[in-house]
Amino acid sequence: MSAIEVLQGDITRLEVDAVVNAANEHLEHGGGVAAAISRAGGPTIQAESDEWVRRHGPLRPGQAAVTGAGAMPARWVIHVVGPRYRPDQDNETLLGRAVVAALEAAAEHGARSIALPAISAGIFGYPRTEATRVIARTVADWLSRNPGVVDRVVLVGYDQATADDFRAAVAEVEGTAGHPPTDG
Ligand code: APR
Repeated sequence: MSAIEVLQGDITRLEVDAVVNAANEHLEHGGGVAAAISRAGGPTIQAESDEWVRRHGPLRPGQAAVTGAGAMPARWVIHVVGPRYRPDQDNETLLGRAVVAALEAAAEHGARSIALPAISAGIFGYPRTEATRVIARTVADWLSRNPGVVDRVVLVGYDQATADDFRAAVAEVEGTAGHPPTDG
């Protein structure tokens, strides 16, 4: 059975098969979680990313680019682009597509455990509570449509507020909203 977990902390330290990066189209890992991943993994990540863009062109919404994870415990980094939040576009569909692209790429590579950050909820300005809800719902939908493909999906909030939002969103999609959390 596949399980969704929520953790607070630094995604680059997690012992998972694949870490998802909230990238931009050019895979220029200059800020946010992308810079953290690039720093933690070492220079091979930016080098492999540059090579990917040279070969395929800019990463499109709904597409994933997979590189090695360098010095991180993970084996792969799956780069996807979330939407830059704008009121005049279907942000939810665009973010959902990014999450599905990440999960599909993980499945193709045989990754059994995957960690995702709050894609779009930083520099790209997607309101945090909405973004975490879209991500949790999309992951839960995908897992129910693809049983047995992935063992573990970890939703990672860098700060406590994001982790709390992810926790609430998972409780909502798993139908346990309203039940108090059990301590330790
Ligand atoms: N571990 C987990 N989450 C992290 C980490 C980390 N080490 N560092 C940052 N985050 C969180 C942020 O707090 C935010 O909740 O990741 C979430 C996504 O924020 P951003 O990294 O800003 O991603 P996004 O909003 O999608 O913007 C993408 O930012 O880094 C650039 O190259 C990237 O241009 C692209 C843009």
